Amino acid sequence: MFKIQIPATSANLGAGFDALGLALTYYNYVEMEECDHIDISSSDNLDIPTDERNLIYISAKDLFEVCGKKLDGLKIRQTNNIPMTRGLGSSSACIIAGLVGANKILGEPLTKDDLVDLSAQIEGHPDNTAPALLGGIVTAVFDGRKVHWVKQEVYTKLKFVAIIPDFELKTEMARACLPKEISHKDAVYNLSRAALFSASLLTGKFENLRTAVHDRLHQPYRMELIPHCREVFDIAYTHGAYGAYISGAGPTVMAIVDENNTYFAGKVKFSLDNAGLSGWEVHELRIDNEGTKIIGV
Ligand code: HSE
Repeated sequence: MFKIQIPATSANLGAGFDALGLALTYYNYVEMEECDHIDISSSDNLDIPTDERNLIYISAKDLFEVCGKKLDGLKIRQTNNIPMTRGLGSSSACIIAGLVGANKILGEPLTKDDLVDLSAQIEGHPDNTAPALLGGIVTAVFDGRKVHWVKQEVYTKLKFVAIIPDFELKTEMARACLPKEISHKDAVYNLSRAALFSASLLTGKFENLRTAVHDRLHQPYRMELIPHCREVFDIAYTHGAYGAYISGAGPTVMAIVDENNTYFAGKVKFSLDNAGLSGWEVHELRIDNEGTKIIGV
């Protein structure tokens, strides 16, 4: 058995819909070993598929197929810390675990670039899968076959505070509510802000982040599917967040906060409780610059 550590991710970062994402210091673990049958379980008794419908297994099988090999079975032990269906990249973590694990079993035939491409083909977009594999902040364009990407390591005094509700929002539903077309003006609105986000994060111009996280492609529509989302944004800004955005497809709200804002998480939790939103949890995270790694054999 070897053990893989995979980070949570936060995609879109406001305006960078399907293009920007970053990895966070919140991890799933997957132990894996080749086996002549399927033997899948979770160490935390979470209800996961334990047969060939398991996403880690499906992804491993895809990699075997790409390499012209047949997968007879796998032993998989999952530790799922990343909450599922919350916009924190839990399915990408499964895809990346399957690919990285299968690649190791086969003696690493595929390169990092291959894994970025294959994971985007499985998921449909690269903004969670690429940072889950690579770490840091990733800018990615998926042309349908290949991902053109840049990973940048970020050493910053920023904290990313995940404000996570106790309800799920399925990505399919959060994509189904989006408009099929947008105006030229709205396209400019978004692309300028997405570019501003990366440049501001990387150069330390954090006062720009509040403008940079606004968008007209997805957040206004998804907010309608997330009860109390606006209140949670207000709470984050009241306590001094530089910016707040819906993480991935939601429903988690991510606040970007200065590390000197010491009691931000506690203040937000107190305000949530006072507003009758005690089901929302608050997790203080940092950017993970390393991405997925095998941490033990
Ligand atoms: N960019 C994707 C979306 C991330 O917002 O739908 C979720 O997979």
